[in-house]
Amino acid sequence: MADKALRRKAKVAIFISGTGTNMAALLYASLLDASPYEIVLVASNREDAAGLEIASAEGVPTFVHSHKGHSRAEHDAAMEKALVSAETEYLVLAGYMRILSDDFVRRWEGRILNIHPSLLPKYKGLDTFARAIAAGDSHAGASVHIVTPELDAGEVLAQARVAVRSGETPETLADRVKYAEHQLYPRAVADYVSRSYDAGYLYDRVSEMALALPESHSRDSHGLPAFRVGTEKSGKFFAHFSENHHGSEHIAVLVKTGGIDELLNLVEAHPETYFKPAYYGASGWVGLILNRPGVDWDHVADWLERSWRSVAPARLTKLRDAADMF
Ligand code: GAR
Repeated sequence: MADKALRRKAKVAIFISGTGTNMAALLYASLLDASPYEIVLVASNREDAAGLEIASAEGVPTFVHSHKGHSRAEHDAAMEKALVSAETEYLVLAGYMRILSDDFVRRWEGRILNIHPSLLPKYKGLDTFARAIAAGDSHAGASVHIVTPELDAGEVLAQARVAVRSGETPETLADRVKYAEHQLYPRAVADYVSRSYDAGYLYDRVSEMALALPESHSRDSHGLPAFRVGTEKSGKFFAHFSENHHGSEHIAVLVKTGGIDELLNLVEAHPETYFKPAYYGASGWVGLILNRPGVDWDHVADWLERSWRSVAPARLTKLRDAADMF
């Protein structure tokens, strides 16, 4: 059961505005057996986007909503409705030439990727090839990055470099960068959607945040990697990392709630985020589910801190309170 949950293909939607060659590269990569994602929707703000026909021919649902005559918020809302009805988990922008509203991006935070035709942080925005040539760069290229409200500024996940030849024009360079993009994007998307289910990656993130809390260290507890605050001798546990523990399909971090009532309320209100873990649940430890798309890592950090505070010696929590005031 756990294996099945881990191997399920992530549901990816693609937004395009133009030719859609990157969309086609993503789509054909997704049709290979080993692909960790499937394309559930191709949507566009332009009826004449050539990529729509390619998607339809492969039986992928398409959706068009022209941006003309609509405010950004209205247009984004129509596109989002299509995303939600396709049960989209990740949104991939492939030559989508519209800026998404901040609210939209925040709602999908951590779940939108974009490909940009430059080696970011160089040349955000338009005319990237002409700018690379004019600057005399030896290489141009493409970057896949996480979309944040600030244009082309989110974390870069992967890049492909393309040599700039002598006598290059923006057009010739653009053609070759496309070849590189078609290799880069499917692989970057596959890696990104897979890491949400990769216990090693999830453990590293939790560990980095847990060990950043004052006087914390790691120590196994009943076979689970765990984190304690205090001295090696008398420290107290504030978090346990649980990978498919006792048949659970979840990869999770267990943190301390105020007690069983709070735990049950959390699980009932947000079953996609919380669960009651075997054994630990009885004493108020709640499981925060990590193997799902769009984990809010700030939320995980807040829980780790709260759990740390509940067992840390007063001398440490006081210092932390003082530091928080600045
Ligand atoms: C791609 O080169 C992509 O990097 C670029 O548009 C092209 C779309 O081509 N994206 C941007 O400039 C985003 N700011 P395609 O429609 O053939 O995939």
